[in-house]
Amino acid sequence: MLDLILFLPQGMKTSLKERLDLKRLPTHVAVIMDGNGRWAKREGMPRLFGHRAGVQSVRQITEACAELGIRHLTLYAFSTENWNRPVLEVTGLMDLLVETLRRELQALHNNGVRLKAIGDLGALPEKTRRALEEAVARTNDNTGLQLILAINYSARWEILHAANALAAEAAAGRLVTPVDERTFAGQLSTAGIPDPELLIRTSGEYRISNFLLWQLAYTELYFTSLFWPEFGKEQLYEALLDYQQRERRFGKTSEQLA
Ligand code: FPP
Repeated sequence: MLDLILFLPQGMKTSLKERLDLKRLPTHVAVIMDGNGRWAKREGMPRLFGHRAGVQSVRQITEACAELGIRHLTLYAFSTENWNRPVLEVTGLMDLLVETLRRELQALHNNGVRLKAIGDLGALPEKTRRALEEAVARTNDNTGLQLILAINYSARWEILHAANALAAEAAAGRLVTPVDERTFAGQLSTAGIPDPELLIRTSGEYRISNFLLWQLAYTELYFTSLFWPEFGKEQLYEALLDYQQRERRFGKTSEQLA
């Protein structure tokens, strides 16, 4: 097969996209978009220039997932820890989010994308929260790709939030104990959404960084040294091809899967 590809004339070679098995795509892809700042530094530009370039990658990846028929895409856009960055960068990121949502909303809507936001949204600046709420409401009836933006999100916050909600239910005498996985997951911000089968992290960092700790229990992890602004459609296809070569055993042996 490889020989055949090598000897095909230029232009007829099988593209990465064509090599994907469309029946074995993940239903949910999660991404830690990392390296905007280092990419900008390498280009001799300010950090916000990197975040702006990162928006182009968000566009590319969202489009590619929608085209492939992937059902859910979760992007880590702003972590609870990101508040510790310089004030100008934080306000710049919040403004960029509002600007991007406003600019892209019509295109998202036209493509049937349904937007959802997870995280402690109550603590966001008013205009960011309003832009998010508007975009979520506007796309609520769409049935295509669900784009989940994790904003002011931290997995420990989410897990504590779920535990406290269950404790309140217990105190009110409405909870059947012991609590099982299904009940617990039902209190998370991703309730009703299947766990990601694939997590991608860019920029050569090998960490989960407080992202979807519960949901990633059996997720395949894919790390690339590319910075987020360098990650486009072709790089996504590469990650998906890598995922398709893996055997997901969920604790079983290979023989049991056969
Ligand atoms: C990580 O790079 C990136 C972020 C913390 C923010 C990601 C935000 C965007 C791509 C723009 C807005 C998003 C949407 C969904 C419209 P970094 O700054 O940590 O890079 P570094 O590690 O090189 O400093």
